[in-house]
Parts: sequence; C-alpha cells; structure tokens
Amino acid sequence: MVSSKTSRMAMAAVPKINPTAVVIFGATGDLTQRKIIPAFYHLRLHNRLPEHFAIIGFARRPYSEKEFRILLKQALEDYSHTHPIDLAVWQWLEQKLFYLQGDLANPEDYVKLAHFLETLPDAKFYKGNFLYYLATAPKYFAIVAENLAKAGLNPKAGELENRRLIVEKPFGTDLNSARELNAILQKYFPEKSIFRIDHYLGKETVQNLLYFRFGNSIFEPLWDRKYIDHIQITVAETQTIGSRGEYYDSAGASRDMLQNHLMQLFSLIAMEPPASLEAESIRDEKVKVLKSVPIPSAEEWLRNSVRAQYGPGILGGKTVKAYREEDKVSRKSLTETYVCVKLEVDNWRWSGVPFYLRTGKALAKQFSEICIVFNRPPCVLFANSTKKVARNWLKIRIQPNEGIHLIFNTKVPNQPALEEAKMDFYYRRYGGHYFPEAYERLLLDALAGESTLFTRSDEVEYAWKIIDSLRNAWNEEDCDAIPLYAPGSMGPVEADELLRREGRYWGPPPKEEEDIGDGES
Ligand code: BG6
Repeated sequence: MVSSKTSRMAMAAVPKINPTAVVIFGATGDLTQRKIIPAFYHLRLHNRLPEHFAIIGFARRPYSEKEFRILLKQALEDYSHTHPIDLAVWQWLEQKLFYLQGDLANPEDYVKLAHFLETLPDAKFYKGNFLYYLATAPKYFAIVAENLAKAGLNPKAGELENRRLIVEKPFGTDLNSARELNAILQKYFPEKSIFRIDHYLGKETVQNLLYFRFGNSIFEPLWDRKYIDHIQITVAETQTIGSRGEYYDSAGASRDMLQNHLMQLFSLIAMEPPASLEAESIRDEKVKVLKSVPIPSAEEWLRNSVRAQYGPGILGGKTVKAYREEDKVSRKSLTETYVCVKLEVDNWRWSGVPFYLRTGKALAKQFSEICIVFNRPPCVLFANSTKKVARNWLKIRIQPNEGIHLIFNTKVPNQPALEEAKMDFYYRRYGGHYFPEAYERLLLDALAGESTLFTRSDEVEYAWKIIDSLRNAWNEEDCDAIPLYAPGSMGPVEADELLRREGRYWGPPPKEEEDIGDGES
C-alpha cells in the first residue's frame, strides 16, 4: 500500500492570465468542438480564465454568432469529460464567443479581423493580447501567419510576447518541410511566441515524469547504464484508423505518433537534470538527448526497426477490415500502422542502453507505458535455482489509470526460492484532486506565455532528422508489402523477435486489475 500526500515542492504556481482575445482559425472543425471548447469551459469552471476574455471563431462557413454558439454548446455536451454541464459557466463562456466568417487565404479578411478585434465589447482591456490558434489543416499554417502579419496582427517590436500563435500537429511531414515552416513562422512571430502543440506534454502523467525523476533521491541515482538494462516505451491503441484514411495513409505511425508523442516521452525519460524548471532549461536538455542519438545507417535501421500493417480480423468482437481495405487508403499501401524502433543515446549516461519504442493501431489493449528494466542481479547466491533471477521493472503508466509500479523479487514464504512481487501506486488515489485534460493545461500555459510544455523549433527538427533517416531506409527497401499483424494482437511477431534476439521481451499489456486500480478514487 502506498500513501500519497500533496508535496508543495517546486509546484508550478497557477499562472496569471491577462485579459486576452483568442482567435481560433478553423473554428468550426473537429478540434474546436472536441478539445478546445471543452478545455476553455473547464478552465472557467476552475476559475482559471480572466473576466475580460473573448474567443473569436474564424472560419469559412456562413454561421451567425447564434448558430456558432449553438454548435459549440452541443459540442460541449457531446465531448466534455465532466457532466452535467454547469449552465452558469456555459452562459459566461457563451457570452464570450464571437464568430467572423472569413477565408484563411484572403488577406482582406484579416483586415476585417483586425477591425473586429478592435470593436469587441471588452476591446480596451486586451491591449493587444491576442492568442491565435491554428486549428486548421497544416497547409494553412504558414498562410495564416503571413496574413496575420500583413494585417498588422503579429507581435509588434517591443511587445514581443503578447501575440502568440498555437500551432497544431503535424508540424511538417519531414525535416525539410518542418524547417521551411519554422522559417516562415519565425519571420512573423518570434520563437518565444510560437507554441507548437504535442498534446502528450499536457498529460498529467507525462508532466509527472519530471517530478518523479527529479523529486526523488531514490530513483535518479539508478537512472543510467550502470543499473538499467534497457527502456521500453509503448503507446498502444485499440482503435483502427477509422475515417482518417486520407491523412493516415500519407503519414503512418512513424510520422503520426513516433516523431512527436513517443519522441517526447523518450527525451523526458532520458534527459539530464535541467538547471531549473524554466522552459528553456528543460527544452535544452530534451534537445541534447535527440542530438545524442547516433543516426543509424539504412542497414542498421532495417535490423533495428519493424513496420507492419493490421490485416483483417476481429477486435473487441467486431470485424476489422485490413488496413489496405480501409476507406481512402491505397490498396497497395506500404504505410505502417505499427512501428517499433531501437534507439541508442550516445552519451555518458546511456551509452549501450537500448531504448525500444513501439506504437500501433488495432492492438489488443489501449495503454501507454514506459518500462525501466534494470540489470539482472548477480546470480551467484541463487546458483542452484533453475530459473534466472528476474530483472526489476519500474513501470510508469501514462494512461489509462495512471500510476507507477515497481516489480521486485522476494522470497517465497517457507521455500528457498524467489518470486516477483509488485508494489502499485495509482494516481487516482489522490482523492479530491481534479485531473485536467491535456488541452486545458496547454491552453492555460499558452495564455500565460509559459512554453515548457510546447516543442521548440530545434526539438521538432532533431526529431524529424531521426524519423527521416528511418523512413529513407524503409523507402530504399524493395518490397510490395510489409508484415501484417492480427487486430487484437500486440503487433507483429517481428517486433517480439527484435527484442528476443537480444535476450529481452516486451512487458505484457496491463492486467485487468491494473486497469481498475485498487478501487479508490
Ligand atoms: C494523435 C494521433 O496525435 O494522437 C492519433 O494523430 C492518436 O492517431 C492520438 O490516436 C492519440 O492520443 P491519445 O491522447 O488518445 O493517446
């Protein structure tokens, strides 16, 4: 049994938010409805938004303000993670919602936007504090930034940080496109005012990685090649690609998940202690990890990576089509719905310790987990045993049922033998605490100008450099099909083989009782 008390140590203070007008480009889309509006609603519910506040939806559809508000009320009902909706809070938020019909590609519509912002009811309070959210298709990211600048809506010299830009993923499709996008955005917005979203960084348990590593003196001394055999990072999803065929077939798991979410987990787990909890200190250390990954040759990549697609089968009692049969997916597609790679970090802490990263769709279980697998203890004392002494595992469960589990060896009572025991900590045991969704935290930080949980330009580029080299190796391979795996499995046998040939194995998916936790909440 593990008990938890709130520690006041180094907890980030609730950021102060100035009166702000938020402009959402692509405001009638899925992201606004599913994530952004529910996040603003919860921020207000928890008294995190300033009294003088406005959200302006900018999109092509000819909505009236009233229609826009009705659309978002419905979205909140459908996608809020808490119910029932607090009507007083909604009514407050509703009064702050405005709509401007506009074409993203038309500079004149941004002149209208500038005028619109000046004539908002609380305009005098905003003092140019504008937060622009690019919830659009990626092809518009650069266009919107440029048009904002043409209309004089980008940051003014001397007021560098009060006009901020939130950019959604995907940030580029490879190193070159990411560099180009960085260059264009930075032409109009200083790096400090660009907030590139990777929503994994907004997850409580991902943030907890830093607190866990650097807030405990018992783990950090073990965090290196002397004690750790290898590290596994898994982001497993049960869903198929659904209706996202068009996007997904041009992306694949390596661009959709590995380049961003898994690379973020990887750099947080491998980074050196930062000099402070300030954004640049933390981001500097994360970048150093990415820079320390030796780029494998094509041959090495082919040995140390696995890509695969889900075939036809049954998942959760339902029939699943093969990936190649999905809507808007090429029947000859070589796009991977599963990827697994082995990475090395060539520095003093990690030299020789492999990091295995895997992610896939249509898998047996929905879970994200980091496993730190320690070296096997010397076996001399147990030399008579037929079994090798098991390695200790520290499992950090990112989602669902966030927690930390330590697996260690104990003596079997009344027998001269060892067996594995497990100590469990479930995050939910923090009774009475509210667990914000990732977007709440990220929006709050962007409003406050706090960029720790956003990716910096060089971080994005180094991550692409690694992924580009992997994809180039795959592209050089002459094949007309990639391995298949059964929906509802944990991926292709080739991924198991990658670890098995090195004397290792993937941690099994969490058991039922780990999903339920210990029942306390
Ligand atoms: C998105 C990917 O960035 O992350 C999706 O585009 C994926 O393919 C999703 O399903 C996973 O996010 P989460 O928060 O559900 O783990």
